[in-house]
Amino acid sequence: MRRTTLFTALLALAVAPAAQATMPMVKKAKDLGITQIENCKSCHAEKNTKDSLNEAGKWMIEQKAARKAAECDVAWMKEYYAKKK
Ligand code: HEC
Repeated sequence: MRRTTLFTALLALAVAPAAQATMPMVKKAKDLGITQIENCKSCHAEKNTKDSLNEAGKWMIEQKAARKAAECDVAWMKEYYAKKK
């Protein structure tokens, strides 16, 4: 079961590599009213790649795995910032 999910997730990444990059996470955060997310640096470190993430960005990756989601959802960040308080 886990293997199948992982395979599906990898397949989704391979088939649509540009989907994440074009997804305007900052805009989505603003729409959701997550004021802590101001720009790319809210989740990314030096570079805006998936290998250069800060604490918040890494948390998103962890959540993706924990929730067995196909891709990251900015809405999860509400929980992240709620826990930080
Ligand atoms: C809410 C946190 C967050 C914000 C804000 C954010 N990113 Fe990301 N970004 C991520 C995460 C998490 C990943 C890794 C996604 C994954 O692997 O599922 C990522 C991945 C990427 C990637 C790699 C995509 C790929 O599939 O290889 C690019 C490029 C990127 N972001 C650019 C940006 C740019 C440019 C901005 C600012 C406009 C931005 N990001 C803002 C969290 C964020």
